[in-house]
Amino acid sequence: MLKKVYSLLLLGCLGLSLSARADEGMWLPLLVKRLNHVDMQKQGLQLTAEEIYNVNNASLKDAIVQFGGFCTGEFVSKEGLLLTNHHCGYDAIASNSTPQDDILKNGFWAMTREQEKKNDGLFVDILVRMEDVSGQVLQGITPQTPEQERTKLVAERSKALADAAKNNGQYVGYVRDFFNGNEFYLFVYERFTDVRLVGTPQESIGKFGGDTDNWMWPRHTGDFSVFRVYMSPDGKPATYSEKNVPYRPKHHLPISMSNLKEGDFAMVFGFPGRTTRFMAGSGLGMAVEQSNPVRIKLRERRLALMKEAMDASPADRLKLASNYASISNYYKYFIGQNEGIKRMKTLDKKATEEKAFQAWADANATRKGLYGSALADINASYAGQRNYNLSAIYRSEAALAPQLMAHAFQYTPLYNMLKAGNVDKAKLQQLVEGYKEMNKEFYASYVPSSDQKIFAELMKMYYQDVPKAQHADIFKDLTTTYKGDFKKWAADIYSKSLLASEAKANAFLANPTLKTLETDPAFKFVRAVQTNYQDNVLPKLNEYNAALGKANRLYVAGLREMHPDKVFYPDANSTLRLSYGTVKGYEPRDGVEYKYYTTMDGLAEKEDPTNPEFIVPAKLMELHRKKDYGRYGENGQLRVGFITNNDITGGNSGSPVINGRGELMGLAFDGNWEAMTGDLVFDPEYKRSINVDIKYVLFVIDKLSGAGHLVNEMTLVDKGNPNTVFNPAINDVKMNGKVEIETPEGQIKIKKKKNETKIKKETKKQKS
Ligand code: ARG
Repeated sequence: MLKKVYSLLLLGCLGLSLSARADEGMWLPLLVKRLNHVDMQKQGLQLTAEEIYNVNNASLKDAIVQFGGFCTGEFVSKEGLLLTNHHCGYDAIASNSTPQDDILKNGFWAMTREQEKKNDGLFVDILVRMEDVSGQVLQGITPQTPEQERTKLVAERSKALADAAKNNGQYVGYVRDFFNGNEFYLFVYERFTDVRLVGTPQESIGKFGGDTDNWMWPRHTGDFSVFRVYMSPDGKPATYSEKNVPYRPKHHLPISMSNLKEGDFAMVFGFPGRTTRFMAGSGLGMAVEQSNPVRIKLRERRLALMKEAMDASPADRLKLASNYASISNYYKYFIGQNEGIKRMKTLDKKATEEKAFQAWADANATRKGLYGSALADINASYAGQRNYNLSAIYRSEAALAPQLMAHAFQYTPLYNMLKAGNVDKAKLQQLVEGYKEMNKEFYASYVPSSDQKIFAELMKMYYQDVPKAQHADIFKDLTTTYKGDFKKWAADIYSKSLLASEAKANAFLANPTLKTLETDPAFKFVRAVQTNYQDNVLPKLNEYNAALGKANRLYVAGLREMHPDKVFYPDANSTLRLSYGTVKGYEPRDGVEYKYYTTMDGLAEKEDPTNPEFIVPAKLMELHRKKDYGRYGENGQLRVGFITNNDITGGNSGSPVINGRGELMGLAFDGNWEAMTGDLVFDPEYKRSINVDIKYVLFVIDKLSGAGHLVNEMTLVDKGNPNTVFNPAINDVKMNGKVEIETPEGQIKIKKKKNETKIKKETKKQKS
């Protein structure tokens, strides 16, 4: 009896994760056929698994790129035209802006290919293939293999596999671990480095609602920008050259011109960055009780000081805009995450789950030997980490956070080379050239006055909050030379450091000596902070982390063994994933219902000319008043945003939201306030992906900005022809009203009927 009650309890508390809902999970495209396809078809998918992912023939995956290493983009024309978010292109847009030609503020549209703007340092990665290499990586490794030996073998084998896949530099390749080190996959990409800015709406559209609306629904942000990928004339990745030609993707996404409806199938294909959904309660506790409050406090101060500078000078606004946006984005994120974890009582839930795990592990001698101490080891690791965690956070969010210090830190490799002596002239020259390049970008966005203030204030907070025994030696200067005056200390460093001036830094680079670098006050400061971190903090953290790595691996292996019928998905790790669900509204609070879409009417209602976050361009208001939405409106309305219950996170920004026929419905650009816990725990009730409607994107490009030639490049699936089904061989499209999709044979394919019967058959197969 007891046992029965117990197992019922157990089921009850794990009920959520056991009946994994369709909307939860970031799945590996390679495994969609085996794990998800039947479920997806039930929800409205009409594509075959091969049309989604196939390494030999064109498939959806060929239209998706990792953008700049931090976002997602998708091809929408056979000439390499790429869509991503405005906030993903933000840095490229701000870097191409000057106070005289402020494209961040005013927008920009290339009317010819020659006007497209190059972007140093920007690249896109296109997946060639992925492969499960767990067998090769883990061969011969047993639970008895000593941990150090295991780590070494895994690293060596992963590197060897990646090196072989690179094929002498033809590809970018790496092995990533999944399920906390229990599985390994190899990823092979082509990297294209000639990525040009084709167009962007004005910031008042691309970042409409600013920080007030950030992470919120209902939303009216036109968060998109347009790029084009170029390749060499012989079809290979190449650095920028006038001779380069537009990349020809194996597939580009056709665009749905129909209004979507609640319940419509939606999948998001992209590169989610990082989640830690298997994290134990003790880890969550450290995040919400210790790490997040400090991050919030430090960022709040930094942002306030940056804002002062930005408000005082338009030139400084441009210099700091990109940095400010990313700091504030995660400032708000940490606040939301903490609120959500409290509301969801996640720590209590984790405790119950972990108790059940422990009982399961202890119930059998073999299991006890393997998994019995996993949770205790995890908890001990976090308890130890807590003693050093503040040092680590203050290092990155305070000491190395000011622009000058982050920059000075970059000189560490040069320092190491000079310090080692016997300098190889050619290598030194190469390094110096790299610094010269880096300096161009750095000084273009450096604002010394606000940075100096930030340094003084953050160091005061560091001094008060970090345990004294873990302070860097350099704080002795503060107390002796500067008598505890943080402002004086800052003023001295900022006026004397060579790195604080472009001219002086370049003079130094013309003849770099160890002595000059060593005695530079900014470099001396970061050096002291880093040495202290490396000697007194990092060894401890490493020790706890190594124990944690092993314990987490066993915990996750145990959880999977404990629930053999549950299909687990791996945490996000910046690899290509697919999540699927439906278009769906939600109830944020008792008595309040959120609709699944927003319109131009709501955008106009938010207009506030006195608030920079809610200015609406006059021409947009004009088109709205006349309801001149062209072919992008329906029933006198223009859709702007919509929500789906897809499981996404940072890195998915710019991802296509694709309907059951493989057509683009919009771009994912944000998560919602009610489910900000998403990176740590999935909230099945509230989790939503916030997306910009593709018809608003096209309206802004075409009607508002007069860049209709770009829309003409795309493949529009007309409202009148909604049965057209995805076809990788899409070749040419005739515009002007009716749109036709031509196969090489020139026929329009209508496969709806056929697909329906196929679904039935496969569902039956799966049941048996
Ligand atoms: N919250 C968005 C994301 O991380 C980024 C939004 C950028 N906008 C801003 N106001 N900071 O996906």
